Amino acid sequence: MDTRECQEQDLELLEACMPSPGQTRRHAIRFERQQRGLSTYLIAWVDDVPVGTGEILWQGCAAPEVNQRYPQCPELNGLAVWPAELQSQGIGTAVVRTAEALAHDRGHHQIGLGVTDDNPRAAALYQRLGYQETGCCYLDRYHYLDDHGHRHDVADPARFLVKQLQVGQQEHPTAGVRAS
Ligand SMILES: CC(C)(COP(=O)(O)OP(=O)(O)OC[C@H]1O[C@@H](n2cnc3c(N)ncnc32)[C@H](O)[C@@H]1OP(=O)(O)O)[C@@H](O)C(=O)NCCC(=O)NCCS
Repeated sequence: MDTRECQEQDLELLEACMPSPGQTRRHAIRFERQQRGLSTYLIAWVDDVPVGTGEILWQGCAAPEVNQRYPQCPELNGLAVWPAELQSQGIGTAVVRTAEALAHDRGHHQIGLGVTDDNPRAAALYQRLGYQETGCCYLDRYHYLDDHGHRHDVADPARFLVKQLQVGQQEHPTAGVRAS
């Protein structure tokens, strides 16, 4: 398995293998953010097939109630492994580790992520990986466009977890990742 930064030529295959809901163009939106220097969009590949994603938002969590408290803390967002049969094989963990190593390489001392209240399995995974509760609860707001192009706004109750990145702690090298 290889985890690397998204390239423009990946977008078509990403949409085919990990489809966005309706007309949302999720992968293209994340790639455009990366092009503007706001994020790094990581893609996990197995045998030239994209199977996982994770986006590091370098300016931190978009939710103001989190960003005010953790303004310098990049957020790992959009973590997903697809299809579901490939979950629980270590792919998500590899994406998290790569994100941590990139954040560390950029001089960050911590990285955070949000987990929604209805996702205890993901929360347990993050806690096993060293992410700690902050008590910072917020509404994870996003929208998607359905098949007709109609916008749907979502606000999921979530909480923010943070991991301290210490020198020598990153076990996984960033080999195979083109850091921006
Ligand atoms: C949450 C998610 C990204 C985690 O990715 P993943 O690839 O499934 O995670 P990992 O395989 O690294 O670790 C998860 C589990 O596999 C186990 N595991 C890790 N490596 C393993 C291996 N080599 N062999 C067997 N099991 C392994 C872990 O112990 C963990 O146990 P669990 O199933 O009881 O939780 C993924 O499951 C997913 O896409 N879920 C749906 C979307 C989602 O919830 N996204 C998170 C939003 S916050």
